[in-house]
Amino acid sequence: MNKDSPKIAVIGAGIVGLTTAKLIQEELKKASVTLIAEKFHQETTSCVAAGIFRPGTSFRGATPEITKKWVNDSWHYWQEILKSSDAVDAGVMGFDSYIFSKDNYSVTRNHLIEDLVPTYRSVDEDELKLVGGNWKYGSYFSTLKTGCEKHLPWLEQIFKSRGGVIVNDKVDSFTSLSKYDLVLNCTGFGAKYLCNDYNLVPMRGQVVKVRAPWLKFAFYGDYDTYIIPGLDGVATLGGVRQYDSYNLAVCKHDTAAILERCYEMLPGLKKAEIVEQRVGLRPHRMPVRVEPEMVGGLKVVHCYGHGGYGVMCAPGTAMNAVELAVNLLKGNSRAHY
Ligand SMILES: Cc1cc2nc3c(=O)[nH]c(=O)nc-3n(C[C@H](O)[C@H](O)[C@H](O)COP(=O)(O)OP(=O)(O)OC[C@H]3O[C@@H](n4cnc5c(N)ncnc54)[C@H](O)[C@@H]3O)c2cc1C
Ligand SMILES: *[C@@H]1O[C@H](CO)[C@@H](O)[C@H](O)[C@H]1NC(C)=O
Ligand SMILES: *[C@@H]1O[C@H](CO)[C@@H](O)[C@H](O)[C@H]1NC(C)=O
Ligand SMILES: *[C@@H]1O[C@H](CO)[C@@H](O)[C@H](O)[C@H]1NC(C)=O
Repeated sequence: MNKDSPKIAVIGAGIVGLTTAKLIQEELKKASVTLIAEKFHQETTSCVAAGIFRPGTSFRGATPEITKKWVNDSWHYWQEILKSSDAVDAGVMGFDSYIFSKDNYSVTRNHLIEDLVPTYRSVDEDELKLVGGNWKYGSYFSTLKTGCEKHLPWLEQIFKSRGGVIVNDKVDSFTSLSKYDLVLNCTGFGAKYLCNDYNLVPMRGQVVKVRAPWLKFAFYGDYDTYIIPGLDGVATLGGVRQYDSYNLAVCKHDTAAILERCYEMLPGLKKAEIVEQRVGLRPHRMPVRVEPEMVGGLKVVHCYGHGGYGVMCAPGTAMNAVELAVNLLKGNSRAHY
């Protein structure tokens, strides 16, 4: 290997792969970086997501400290973009959210972000009546979202402008990658087949995208009900979370259930035009895998299995993966076992 200009391959063009590719270019300015992926833009799971910054409380990395660092680093990364003139092109927008429950106050709290976002408080009686549904408990918090329909093209353009090369191909084995000094494995659910990783499980999701430019807050209710504002006035209504389901077709029963629950919360949505319906398989893995591995002499850093939180946490996990990659290239990593 030429120590000054290593050859690096990133596999995957979802938000995790593209963010990792951008960050490794920033860290190793002389590296030549190639991004290889089978699917791009609208065809990725990333483009199905609402992209809101709200981790499930079960989201985790290898340790609570690592999880905390991913979430914190991600939040600050998004805040930097939100404060910059890039915010619109990058598809990042800030807003506040209500989360309601009839079952239990504790489900409206979130230990992973309560100390991070500027506002996280319980609601008062009047706020419980803001939307339909006779809610008993609720919290209010500030957050943001990243719309991958804009963010992925934005990342890709930056990556290319710095000399990054994009290859449209499916990687079937490591042997084809032997010319690289290091490979970053950001294949999302694809890792299941590439790596026979049985810990990776599809968590099927379905959403309805509607035109609702008047929507200024996000709302969550019980049974995975959510209404999330979006770019260009297109909101995301959800949802379902079906464990070990591989069905990529829109299910009319899921659609009916989603609309019924969302219309009950906000009857005004009945007038909102349905723009499209999307299904995605969240790459669920406990914990999310960010770690180095030597695979048949090849240096690999894995970064996959973000489940339902890969948009919001792509930056933090990508920073972690890039740090591991730099150490591995220097040859001073713990990865040589
Ligand atoms: C309905 C729904 C709602 C969601 N809402 C949110 C949300 O509000 N907030 C949030 O943070 N997250 C959300 N998510 C989760 C989020 O979409 C995922 O965690 C995230 O997209 C994972 O990104 P990724 O880059 O790992 O995977 P993907 O976007 O799936 O990208 C994987 C890439 O790897 C490539 N690839 C895979 N295997 C190979 C191979 N062998 N060779 C070449 N290329 C390969 C693919 O072609 C693709 O380019 C949601 C998901 C769904 C389904
Ligand atoms: C969170 O991240 C910011 C920016 O990277 C950093 O300055 C800060 O120290 C971090 N806080 C914690 C608690 O890790
Ligand atoms: C809510 O959940 C907490 C923690 O799981 C539990 O201790 C409490 O009893 C629950 N409260 C209600 C009203 O169900
Ligand atoms: C990516 O990770 C998966 C899961 O461990 C593995 O099956 C696959 O071989 C890896 N691919 C590469 C190129 O590292």
